[in-house]
Amino acid sequence: MVERIGVSIPKNLLGKFDMFIKKKGYANRSEAIRDAIRDFLSESEIDLTGDGIGTISVFYDHHAHHVSNFITEVQHDFENIVLNSIHFHLSHHLCLEIIVVKGNFRRISTLASRIKTKKGINHVKIQIAGYAQVDI
Ligand code: NI
Repeated sequence: MVERIGVSIPKNLLGKFDMFIKKKGYANRSEAIRDAIRDFLSESEIDLTGDGIGTISVFYDHHAHHVSNFITEVQHDFENIVLNSIHFHLSHHLCLEIIVVKGNFRRISTLASRIKTKKGINHVKIQIAGYAQVDI
């Protein structure tokens, strides 16, 4: 069974998406969006029972109300897994904060979700690895 949905997307983001899927050879947007959703879900289905290390990269506009404070506060809430963070002022308004984390994947994932769902955050990228993957 297939369900039709309507989605609101900023014009320039959709333009980039269209160019990207054309290069990739998708027949239409629906097919590309289905693939993107599958990727999105498989990323979230990573085995979260173990421990490891990782980074959470947060792009945000520091003019957005309360976001800077939130980024600091949330790291205090998760002080048992946050090792350190580094802040880059990328442009007049855009900031990048890279948070280095170590510990339980589920806890790392919870922290990333807490940040992702905060209003005013532009983009969050999480990279995690188990010790077996990095202790060679
Ligand atoms: Ni900044």
